[in-house]
Amino acid sequence: MAKNKFNFDTLKIRAGYEPKDHNYCVSVPIYQTTSYDLGGTQRAKRIVTYQENAWLYSRINNPTVDVLEKRVAALDGAAAALALSSGMAAITYTFFAIAEGGGRILTSPYLYGGSFDSFKSIFPRFGIKFDFSPNIENVKELEKEIKPDTKAIFIESIGNPLVTLLDIEALSALAHKHNIPLIVDNTVATPYLFNPFEHGADIVVYSATKGLSGHGNVIAGIILDSGNFEWKEAKFPQFYKKHYTLRDENAVKRSYLEVFKNIAFIGKARMDYLNYFGSSLSPFDAYLVLIGIETLSERLQKQVSNTKKIVEYLENSSYVSKVNYPTAKNSSYNELAKKYFPKGTGSVLSFEINGSQEQGQKFIDALKIFTYLANLGDAKSLVIDPFKVTHGELTNDDLALAKIPLNLIRLSIGLEDPDDLIADLDQAFKEALK
Ligand SMILES: Cc1ncc(COP(=O)(O)O)c(C=O)c1O
Repeated sequence: MAKNKFNFDTLKIRAGYEPKDHNYCVSVPIYQTTSYDLGGTQRAKRIVTYQENAWLYSRINNPTVDVLEKRVAALDGAAAALALSSGMAAITYTFFAIAEGGGRILTSPYLYGGSFDSFKSIFPRFGIKFDFSPNIENVKELEKEIKPDTKAIFIESIGNPLVTLLDIEALSALAHKHNIPLIVDNTVATPYLFNPFEHGADIVVYSATKGLSGHGNVIAGIILDSGNFEWKEAKFPQFYKKHYTLRDENAVKRSYLEVFKNIAFIGKARMDYLNYFGSSLSPFDAYLVLIGIETLSERLQKQVSNTKKIVEYLENSSYVSKVNYPTAKNSSYNELAKKYFPKGTGSVLSFEINGSQEQGQKFIDALKIFTYLANLGDAKSLVIDPFKVTHGELTNDDLALAKIPLNLIRLSIGLEDPDDLIADLDQAFKEALK
């Protein structure tokens, strides 16, 4: 089906899939195969020299996974996509491809704990250093932190766990002024609530484990490439370097830009990093994500509506000292929410319990409907204490930089009846704070 010819709700059901090309199956088939018959040596030569686009080996491409890639690309209007076996793989391959050979990434302290800790502890071992800027909300100050070897700015469109928002257009203008890409983790928002490309992002990453699939049954990740970023050779020589693996039919080496043109970034992430590091998404898992995406808008609409009711309850509760949600009355993000998130700011909120850390733990143990686990965006409502679990690797200094207090509790609101959820919170507060 032609990309971007239809509205979002049609694309989420149909983009990237033509039944007539798949034995007229109404449901996307699960191509459970490692490899594909090359059909003769002449065809094999055309395939390996990129003259013919074909299925080769399911570590690097697979028809079921391909539908998922095309579908999510269509939802955000991306030029190309790469699906991987987790959100962390999507984040990792993105930075390996952008900062190959070393470099710095300027980032926000308001991030998923696994991102924060891997940026701080793991990536530097590979020569990629992250600058967590407390000035991420002040673009003028932030500009002073761009160094000669800064290769990208990275943010979450809705920050985790404080539900922070940023002025994405201002950050994109700053990145582009310095010829570096803006990379946005759009996991919490999902393509339904926010399209980062429309506001100047160049690369978008998703943990499809969360709201995109939405049912807590699959781990998956996706990278999207706008196809618009111009990779300048001085900072990004990896896209200009000629490789034997990209040779033409006369065995002449070529670069990623020569072979993949405006989608050189996804080409490199697939043919270097997925190909050789191998975090492939299985066709069955791609199928589960596709099924989840079919109800993305409907789920998010109800989840946002439920979340707003719960925010209102918490704002009026004496058991709570602070509520973090961009449309909450006391939030400093009201204006950014209005500008960037007209359909709502998602199903994640956090709050500070009006009590000690121990009482926070008691509250969690007393909940009867909310499930205590490290995930978000599920159809089921979830609760977590970030400082212990999702951000448990952060030191006290990191927690202070990320502004995560010890009595912070994060909720991810699902599709249950909101009155039942509020009653559950209420009885747990009474139990914990009696
Ligand atoms: C915002 C965000 N990005 C990335 C990830 C990592 O995704 P995954 O768990 O699919 O590896 C998470 C996981 O919690 C997340 O919340």
